Amino acid sequence: MNLVLVGFMASGKTSIGRRVARRLGYRFLDTDRFIESELGCSIAELFAAKGEAHFRALEARLVQRLSALSNTVIATGGGMPIAPGNLDGLRKAGIVVFLNADVEEILQRLERDTRRPKVQGGDLREKVLGLHRERLPIYSQADVVVDTRGKTVNRVAGDVIRLVAEAMRAREAAASIPKPQSA
Ligand code: S3P
Repeated sequence: MNLVLVGFMASGKTSIGRRVARRLGYRFLDTDRFIESELGCSIAELFAAKGEAHFRALEARLVQRLSALSNTVIATGGGMPIAPGNLDGLRKAGIVVFLNADVEEILQRLERDTRRPKVQGGDLREKVLGLHRERLPIYSQADVVVDTRGKTVNRVAGDVIRLVAEAMRAREAAASIPKPQSA
């Protein structure tokens, strides 16, 4: 079983994912760092050299490879679940958990960011609010939604573990109910 963390940039997927993995004794994989290490360059360099579409194609290919993993907490890049088909691909890889962070907290964290090409240049607030509005309905289709507002990494990690366990119990209970026989 894998846990797949989705959510906006700077919503804590990496730090919370690492904590959850440590507590469960799982491995941890960050899709951005994985792509960077396979290519030997940073995502910012990749965007600059080959454009966003190229990065999105690499992401879509990686989604298809994730279901080969087991006992891994996977932190995804903020745009990974957005392209059509990717969210279904992530569901095949594991239980999808949306870390729902407060947009004002996200804005604060991104203010000094120099690494993320989607938020460089122009009006940060406008960019973040626009992307957030577009993406929220997609993130919200996750199997489990965890509210991170005002919580510590430890607290959110505990909430993720508890809510995933509840979702799995509910799935198992639903699977054990006999299906009505069709006539
Ligand atoms: C992106 C988010 C980044 C990274 C890339 C694009 C996005 O990941 O994949 O810069 O489109 O939201 P984080 O969510 O880890 O910042």
